[in-house]
Parts: sequence; C-alpha cells; structure tokens
Amino acid sequence: MSVTIRTVQQCKAEGRKFSVLTAYDACFARLISEAGIDVMLVGDSLGMVLQGHDSTLPVTVADIAYHTRCVASGNQGSLLMADMPFMGAASLQDALDNARTLMQAGAQIIKLEGAGWLAETITVLKRNGVPVCAHLGLTPQAVNAFGGYRVQGRGDAAQQLIDDAVALEAAGADMLLLECVPRATTLKLLEAVSVPVIGIGAAPECDGQVLVVHDMLGITHGKTARFVKNFMAGADSIQAALRAYDAAIKDGSFPAPEHCFS
Ligand code: KIV
Repeated sequence: MSVTIRTVQQCKAEGRKFSVLTAYDACFARLISEAGIDVMLVGDSLGMVLQGHDSTLPVTVADIAYHTRCVASGNQGSLLMADMPFMGAASLQDALDNARTLMQAGAQIIKLEGAGWLAETITVLKRNGVPVCAHLGLTPQAVNAFGGYRVQGRGDAAQQLIDDAVALEAAGADMLLLECVPRATTLKLLEAVSVPVIGIGAAPECDGQVLVVHDMLGITHGKTARFVKNFMAGADSIQAALRAYDAAIKDGSFPAPEHCFS
C-alpha cells in the first residue's frame, strides 16, 4: 500500500517512528521503497553527492524535477518529497510556479528551507493543494548566511526556532524537518507542535529520521557528519543496509545519543 501524508500522521498518532531517505534515481528508488522506507526525499543534497559541488546552492528547479521524475519511475509506494532549491520560493509566484513543476514531475510533498518568514508561502501553497514540509534549524541553503554548517537553536536562538515551528504549523505545514538542533531544543519543539517532525542531527524522539543515502551507505570520502551512521558496516548488500536503516529507526536504536548534539 502506498504511503501518503495521512500514513505519516497516523504513525505519529500511534507513536510509531517512520523512516526517510534521500533518493535521486529510479534504481535506488526501487531498492529504497522495497526496503520499506516510508518517505523518499529528492534532496538538493544531490548538488553535493551527485554533481560534486561544495554546497547545494547551484542546484536548479530543473535538476530537482529531473531527479524527481527518475525517482517517481522507480518508486514502489513511498511518499515522494522533493526539495525546493535555493531561491526557488523567493517570491510567492516563484514558489507556485516551481511547486507546480515539481508536483507535475511526481512529487507528492514539497520541502522548503527557511524559518518563520515562510508562513505566507506555505499558506498559499497549501491553498493550491501542495503539501509542505518546512525545513528548520541548519538549512544548508543558508550556509553563507550562517558562516558555515553550524548547529542551530542553541541558547537564546532556541525559543525563536520553537516560535518559528509553531508559526509554520499554524500556516499549514504538514511536517517539519529539523537539522542539527540540540536535543534539548528539539524536545521543547516537539512539545510545542503536533505535526510529524523529521530529525537529522536532532533527537531520537523525533517522529521520523532522515539521512542522505550515500552517507548511510558509507560513501562519504572520509568526511562523516556526527549524525551519520554507516549501515553498510556489517551488511552483506545494499538492500540489507537499507533494511537495517529502516529497522533501526523503527525500533528506536537510531539515532543514538552519539548522533545528536547537546
Ligand atoms: O537535501 C537533502 O538531502 C536534505 C536532507 C539532508 C534533510 O535536505
């Protein structure tokens, strides 16, 4: 049976964790969805892992649309989320035009990076039938504004992050994704919102967890972020590693405290 936004909401209501993994092509999309992973994300991380850039900024809407079509053709029933790339929602009209392109390429939900200022964009997209996941915390498209890939939501910034999450839920966000946020801030945010929250470097208590597929298969060229676990270690095939990743999220053993920030 296909995973929909309602399936993910149901997981949260029943206290069951769900799994999310990036996918960029039909072959991996088939393997990932057959491994039982609930949500596939055509992330703009493709700019780094497929295109070899040192950030996600060069990725275009056409790039994401192309890879979304590839993933859609291999997908066996996972929910297909596509990333809005850098400046893709700089105006409401851009957001609508680009969301149309990505949904027509096969996306079933659009992920937008930002903060509280995304509220109006989310409301307009929702009015037009586009489900939205709002990506908060370390938003890699803002790496230059942050001055590097840094943990967000520490100290005084914690309350702002929580207020943003509450505002985006009120604006209509169907899900939130929290990247590189200390566990203590994440726990407070989880209490403040009721939509499903996906974590990456956030906390085991998040409703779902995501990684970049290359990272969890150990293809990292020696640079491994704290929140990454190599599921190929001890697995005898890619399919076994994907199943181990799905199982570890669902039984609560991943992420462990060493994958989170204090
Ligand atoms: O682009 C991406 O793959 C992402 C995930 C790492 C969350 O945004």
